Amino acid sequence: MSQIRRIPIGKLQLGMYVSDLTPGIEDGQLRARGFIRRHETIDKLISKGLSEIYIDIYKGIDSPYALPVDQNTAFLKPRVKLSEERLQAAKVYDEARGLVSNLLRDIKLGKPINIGPVESLAEDINNSVLNNPNALLCLSAIREKDQYLLEHSINVGILMGIFSRYLGYEDNLVHQLVTGALLHDIGKIRVPFNVLHKPGKLDETEWTEMKRHVPYGQEVLLKSQGISEITLAICGLHHERLNGTGYPLALKAEDINNYGRLAAIVDVYDAITADRVYHKGRAPAEAMEFLLEIADGHLDRNLVNQFIRCMGVYPVSTLVELDNGRAAVVISSNHAKPHSPTVRAIYNLRQKHYEKPKDLDLSSPLIENKIVATLNPEDYDILVKDFL
Ligand SMILES: [Fe+2]
Repeated sequence: MSQIRRIPIGKLQLGMYVSDLTPGIEDGQLRARGFIRRHETIDKLISKGLSEIYIDIYKGIDSPYALPVDQNTAFLKPRVKLSEERLQAAKVYDEARGLVSNLLRDIKLGKPINIGPVESLAEDINNSVLNNPNALLCLSAIREKDQYLLEHSINVGILMGIFSRYLGYEDNLVHQLVTGALLHDIGKIRVPFNVLHKPGKLDETEWTEMKRHVPYGQEVLLKSQGISEITLAICGLHHERLNGTGYPLALKAEDINNYGRLAAIVDVYDAITADRVYHKGRAPAEAMEFLLEIADGHLDRNLVNQFIRCMGVYPVSTLVELDNGRAAVVISSNHAKPHSPTVRAIYNLRQKHYEKPKDLDLSSPLIENKIVATLNPEDYDILVKDFL
């Protein structure tokens, strides 16, 4: 059994197992394959000019800086229909609301985290994602006013589950990443209400207080039992930025591991697609553009590109125009045919009125309609969430 990951050469350590699948060392000239037992071996690999090495994490130690070599897109082909998973996903989302809201209340009261229920929730999310990732994605786009922290915590968990599985991480690690993502912002419950909910720009003192949500969160996690290093990393690193402009430590790229990099991407994506008191949520396509804009410097560009591929050309909840003059909401991405998702037609753009919603699988040979544009829901006063 093997599980191959790629790792920047600078992060190679004693105890790792170098795979002979590493491009550039398959010629057999270098006897570096296998366990790294001596620093000289690392030096030798560096002198060969390789920028990254493949390691086998079943034979040697793993690293939070390692990424899977092979993507796992198989789960994006749903096991069950959206309509079948929808009910189960709604149950999971409801349970998540109850659980996370109790969790936040307990933390506010100074209690430690009871990790058991959070782990069960992570498992339920993962199972639903495996059945049909679109079901929870639809639910995550339906937001209630004044529930930002609660919904954001759940949504970041869902997005992390989908993205980390897409990247090829194995079950156990996906599970831990989702657990960490669900808890990434718990420190916010200790930020004063007037700062957390201020309907405008924060002044300097307020911003300092807001940034404290990271150490507050770490503090709660550290006094709780059974919290993994991965959860701590996600909480501690999700606002660090590769160019050193993040917080709380203004770390540089080499000190921000992949767990922190993944968390930063899903956190920003969910935050900017949400309606807040001070800004309107961006449509998914616009949010992707924004991620790309800030990728250089702030986020890991390679991972941002993969996230965009993972979410699809038309992410769930995108409003599109069909060639028959109807506006439709994307309810399922199609990874085999990215330009032909399943959509719910809702609105007649020529006659400007709603019509009885009709689901269309644009990849079906029986459906002749095509997407001709992405629309801004605001231009038509359409509340996409009402149709998910
Ligand atoms: Fe945060």
